[in-house]
Amino acid sequence: MFESNKDRTEILSADADGIKKASALLTEGSLVVFPTETVYGLGADATSYLAISELFAVKKRPQINPLIVHIKDIDTACNLAEIPEAAWPLIEKFWPGPLTLVVQRKKICNSISNLVTSNLETIALRVPDHPIALRLLTEFAKPIAAPSANLSGKLSTTRTKDVFSNFRGKISAILDGGSCSIGLESTIICFESNKPIILRLGGIPLEAIENQLNQKVIIANEVRKSVEKISSPGQMLSHYAPKARLKLNVVQPKENELYMGFGFMPTESIGLNLSETSNLIEASTKFFATLHDLDKMAEQMKIDIIAVAPIPKLGLGLSLNDRLKRAATENF
Ligand code: TXA
Ligand code: MG
Repeated sequence: MFESNKDRTEILSADADGIKKASALLTEGSLVVFPTETVYGLGADATSYLAISELFAVKKRPQINPLIVHIKDIDTACNLAEIPEAAWPLIEKFWPGPLTLVVQRKKICNSISNLVTSNLETIALRVPDHPIALRLLTEFAKPIAAPSANLSGKLSTTRTKDVFSNFRGKISAILDGGSCSIGLESTIICFESNKPIILRLGGIPLEAIENQLNQKVIIANEVRKSVEKISSPGQMLSHYAPKARLKLNVVQPKENELYMGFGFMPTESIGLNLSETSNLIEASTKFFATLHDLDKMAEQMKIDIIAVAPIPKLGLGLSLNDRLKRAATENF
C-alpha cells in the first residue's frame, strides 16, 4: 500500500528497535509521526527551537497557533506548569487519556521552546494513553510537541496510510500503530480563576467531564467574547476540510451526492456508514478514516458533495458535530 524507503519517509514498526530509532531521530531534531489513542501526532523535540520551526513549516501551520506538549506522567506536568486545584479531579480520572490541560507555564527550569507555546504564558499538556506513545516518551526522556498529523486545516489522521499521504517524503519516519482507538482529538480544558472552561470538545464525552466535576462546564466558543484572552488561537483556524463539500443533517441524499451514514443507509445511497448500530463511540473511532475514504471516493467518482446524516447532539456526538460544522463552514 505504501513504500517506506522511497522519498525518505520510513515506516517503523513499533517494536523496541522502532522506538529506539524514532527516539534517535527526535534527538537529532527530525520529525516523527507517532500514534496516540486520539489521532496520530506529528512529533518533535519540544525543547528544540530548530525542530519546532521545522514542524511548523512542514505542517504549514502559522506560528501563532501553539502546540500540545506530550509528557509521560503527572510529575513532568508539575515540573513544567502550575496545576490549578480544579484540575486535579480531571487529572485523576482522565490522565493518561484524551485530555489536554492549558495551564500556566512555569518560568524557571523550563526548557520547552517558546515557539511551542507561541510565546504565551500558558502551556497545553497531555499524557497520552497509548502504549507506543508512552514507550516513545520514556525512551526519548523529554517532552514531545505534537499537533495532529495532518497538513494545517486538513483532516486529522487515525491510520498510517492517511499520515503517509499527508507527509510522504516530508518527514523522517512514521511509527506504525494501526488505527487509533478513540479517533477524535483530545478535549482541551483551560482554567479561569480556578473555573474549568472547555476550549475544544474532543475524545471525552462532555457529560463524563461534568460528572467528574459535579457541575456544568462552560464551552469557550459558546461564550467566546467573555473568554477571548484565554481562548485557543487554533480554534478559529481548524476546519478539518476534506476536498469535497460537506452538507450536514441530510436524511435523504441526492443522486449526485455521496453519503456518510449514521445508523441506517437510505436505499440507493452510495457511501459509508459510521455505525450501523448508531453507536457514537464506534462513529468517533471511524470518523476521520471514513471522511478520508469518502473524499477519495468522491474524487474518483467525480462527485463534489458528501452529505452527512444527522448525528445526535449528546456525548461524543457533540464533539463530532463540532468537527462537522467546522469542516462544512470551510467549504461553503
Ligand atoms: O488529541 C490531540 O490533542 C492530538 C494528539 C496528537 O495529541 N493533538 C492535537 O493537536 O489535536 P493540534 O495541534 O491539532 O490541536 C491543539 C490545539 C490547537 O487548537 C491549539 O490552538 C490549542 O490546542 N493550544 C495549544 N496550546 C494552547 C495554549 N497554550 N492555549 C490555548 N490553546 C492551545
Ligand atoms: Mg489539529
